[in-house]
Amino acid sequence: MKKGVVNPWEVKGDVDYRKLMEEFGISPLKELPDVFNKEILFRRKIVFAHRDIQKILEAAKNKKKFVVMTGLMPTGKFHIGHMTVIKQLVFWQSIGAKLYIAVADLEAYNTRGQSLEEGRKIAIEEYVSNYLALGLKEKNCEIYFQSQRSKDAKKANAFYRLQNLLARYVTFNEFKAVYGEITPGKMLSSLLQGSDMLHPQLPEFEGTCPVLVPVGIDQDPHLRLARDISKRIKNPKFTQLSSTYNIFAPGLKGGKMSASDPLSYVSPTDSEKEVENKIKKYAFSGGQATIAEHRKKGGNPDIDVSFQYLKMFFEPDDEKLQQIYSAYKSGELLTSELKEILIEKITNFLKKHQQEKQKAKKQVDKFILK
Ligand code: TRP
Repeated sequence: MKKGVVNPWEVKGDVDYRKLMEEFGISPLKELPDVFNKEILFRRKIVFAHRDIQKILEAAKNKKKFVVMTGLMPTGKFHIGHMTVIKQLVFWQSIGAKLYIAVADLEAYNTRGQSLEEGRKIAIEEYVSNYLALGLKEKNCEIYFQSQRSKDAKKANAFYRLQNLLARYVTFNEFKAVYGEITPGKMLSSLLQGSDMLHPQLPEFEGTCPVLVPVGIDQDPHLRLARDISKRIKNPKFTQLSSTYNIFAPGLKGGKMSASDPLSYVSPTDSEKEVENKIKKYAFSGGQATIAEHRKKGGNPDIDVSFQYLKMFFEPDDEKLQQIYSAYKSGELLTSELKEILIEKITNFLKKHQQEKQKAKKQVDKFILK
């Protein structure tokens, strides 16, 4: 395995999840209550690890208040890799969570040099309408911009005040220990993300309550830092943050799907022709070099990107997925046939999704800036 890079600002190459879990002190996600099996991301262990999820499960079970909070950088196109987090949010909302979603426009400004105007435009046109099309409901859901937390000054002040409070409780050496290389812009982003994750518990928002942060494993340094800092603050008293970690959707050519590389992803705005072309041309295959060899030796679904997409997103039927897995492994199913199955599934999904997105566009305003 070639060594990848994984930190909150960059994910490149292969990700060794087991090693990172050990290094970061994250636990594997074991048995979950039955309702979780409705969502394939849980059923198929795409969400594979956690910290302190127990108190979230208890709150959900006892119908107590809990928040699920996450954020996305509005850079480039919304792509199917982003669906992992959004689909989790839709699920949590369905079992009673209050959702907070940060549009990380300030982070994109500080770490990617993207203007706030551009971030705003992309967020509204590309991201938020796709969230709604994926089933996010207006009730119990707040979407906000990091650069503009709320129209209500009391709330906005509390949010930015918290970012400053956090700074008082952390040293420069801790920053260096957690992140290695650090710049003033990155420091501000990580404290702002701290405020993103902790502010739901302020009296101006929900008050002290359990908060779950579903993220990719690259974001864990932010969680460790926020957990450490918040423990030191006596007033307000924070309930320790919980988190879950999902594996990254692989990019078409392998590695991580990245909004900055159009040939690495499939996007809801791709046309049918584009999807077909991208999958046929670029989707990394676990098949053999020739048909004869494939029939003889069989393919490897575990590294095949088309199979991974079926597993993560597009084939909800476990039995059918298993059949495809076995047929591919035995050599009975060819790479071209596997790709056809995927292309058809994605095409159907996109048709429905586009319609939902058109409807959603009119709703976007209702979700933001409360
Ligand atoms: N840093 C995250 C990313 O790069 C985005 C983000 C901003 C976030 N605030 C957050 C994630 C709060 C989780 C919780 O994608």
